[in-house]
Amino acid sequence: MVMSEFQIVPATPDMLPDILALEEACFSSPWTRKMLEAELTNNQFAHFLVARRREESIPQAEPTIIGYHCFWIVFEELRLMNLAVRESMRRRGVGKALVTEALRLGLEQAATRAVLEVRASNDPACSLYARLGFVQIGRRPRYYTNPIEHAVLMEMHPLVISSGQQLAKVLL
Ligand SMILES: CC(C)(COP(=O)(O)OP(=O)(O)OC[C@H]1O[C@@H](n2cnc3c(N)ncnc32)[C@H](O)[C@@H]1OP(=O)(O)O)[C@@H](O)C(=O)NCCC(=O)NCCS
Repeated sequence: MVMSEFQIVPATPDMLPDILALEEACFSSPWTRKMLEAELTNNQFAHFLVARRREESIPQAEPTIIGYHCFWIVFEELRLMNLAVRESMRRRGVGKALVTEALRLGLEQAATRAVLEVRASNDPACSLYARLGFVQIGRRPRYYTNPIEHAVLMEMHPLVISSGQQLAKVLL
C-alpha cells in the first residue's frame, strides 16, 4: 500500500466504536471505551489520529479505520500513548506514518523530546520505534499486567524527523 492509499485525519467521537473494536483486537489489556472517550474529548494534552482507507471493493463505503495513534504533547514532551494498526494492514507503513505525524505535530508545538513505554516482548513495535530513531533508556519492571511484563522505556531526544521518513497524506 502506498501512502496515497490511506490518509491520516484527526479522530472524532463518532469513530469511537471502530477505534474500540481495533483496540480490543490488538491488545490483551485494551483501553476501555471510557478511557478512549476521555482521550478523544476530555484531555487538553491529547491528540488522536486515525489512518483510514476507502475499500476498493465498495467504492461508496465510508473510509475504514485501519489504525490509530493517541499521543500527548505536554509542553516540551511528546508522549506516545497508544498505537495500533489492523492486523491485515500491517507492514505497509501505516504505523510509521502515524508516529511520524505525531513527531511532526510535536515539533510544530516546540516539543524537544519524545518518550514511550512498550512491552519488552513487542518486537514489531520496538523495531518500529528504533527505526524512527528512539533509543532504549530504561525498564519499568512488571509494569504491564495480563500477562505481567516489563516495560521498555524509549526516548528520542532531540526530537527529529529523519529525512528518509515520508509523511502520509494528512488531512488536518
Ligand atoms: C506495532 C505496529 C503498530 C506496527 O504497525 P505497522 O503499520 O505494521 O508498521 P509499519 O509497516 O509502519 O513498519 C515500519 C517499520 O517498523 C518495523 N516493523 C514493523 N513491524 C515489524 C515486525 N512485525 N517485525 C519486524 N519489524 C517490524 C520495520 O522496520 C518496518 O519497516 P519495514 O516494513 O520497511 O521493514 C503494529 O504491529 C500493531 O498494531 N501491533 C499491535 C499493537 C501494538 O503492539 N501497538 C504498539 C504498542 S507500544
